[in-house]
Amino acid sequence: MKNKIISVSAPGKLMLFGEHSVVYGRPCIVTAVNQRIFVKIVKTKGDSILINAPEVNVKNYSIKVSNLGKIDYPKDIKFVLKSVENFFKKYKVSSGLKIFTHSQFSSLFGFGSSSAITVCMVKGLSKIFDIQVYNKALFDIAYKTVLDVQGVGSGFDLAAAVWGGTLYFVGGGKKIVPLNVKPFKLIVGYTGIKADTATLIKNVADLYKKNKTEVEGIFKSIDKIVEKAKINLQKGNYRVLGDLMIKDQGFLNSLGVSSTKLDNLISAANTSGAFGAKLSGAGGGDCMIAFVDKKNKNNVMNEIVKKGGIIIDVKTGAEGVRVERI
Ligand code: MEV
Repeated sequence: MKNKIISVSAPGKLMLFGEHSVVYGRPCIVTAVNQRIFVKIVKTKGDSILINAPEVNVKNYSIKVSNLGKIDYPKDIKFVLKSVENFFKKYKVSSGLKIFTHSQFSSLFGFGSSSAITVCMVKGLSKIFDIQVYNKALFDIAYKTVLDVQGVGSGFDLAAAVWGGTLYFVGGGKKIVPLNVKPFKLIVGYTGIKADTATLIKNVADLYKKNKTEVEGIFKSIDKIVEKAKINLQKGNYRVLGDLMIKDQGFLNSLGVSSTKLDNLISAANTSGAFGAKLSGAGGGDCMIAFVDKKNKNNVMNEIVKKGGIIIDVKTGAEGVRVERI
């Protein structure tokens, strides 16, 4: 019999509203983007797992199945190996595997490459072993994997990779609600700087410990923005959504997670005709996003570029994880 082969892809994401507060079990809104991660898995008769991940310069890495969970995994393929370890343990299966990964976007953008890879791995393994794993179970095992590897995170990026579209998400996956939203134009400006998500989450946690009442107040205000954004996204009120972005950015500034480069790109967008702009994700670097109408689109993009931003062309509301034809 031939070795069984499965190819799976999952989308990257952009946080629209509610970053950081979502880590504290609060709501956010995220959209999946049309740049994807691909994972091909081959079931083999051997007793080892072979990984090729060219984007992170991993070539022919091999580990014995019996060593899963017993040795430290290389940094760049931790999510892949932890997914296999957790899947084998949960579903009491085991096999040799060959795994190949490919990404349509740079892991530097903050589009959630680790989460998309984890989701691809769980989906791919479920197909390899013919196990029915529904979306919520897929999310749960992927979320456990991410927490095992990095200790923190709300899981919103995993939900975007699983369900796709635009989602209302409550921290930890307490609520995952697909929103009925038409595709919308979002300008994305990359700062050229990689955000250090773990440090930024820790900085907010330190601030929370020091000024609990004040930070709780900020989180409550962000909750209100998220709820209003949810309604206005479904109505397509981009002018209102722009105002909400400006307000959310103000609160993110108070949490200390913005940066000079982000502030410059955001102000370039706001003063050149955007409805509103904000950082997207952890802050510190990665990307800013802006709502803009057709008339002002080129002007806004030019001004972002003049301030040193790199425009990334994405479509919002992309399809969630899917099995690809081989
Ligand atoms: C990072 O992209 C967004 C944060 O809210 C972290 C998370 O939700 O896991 C800062």
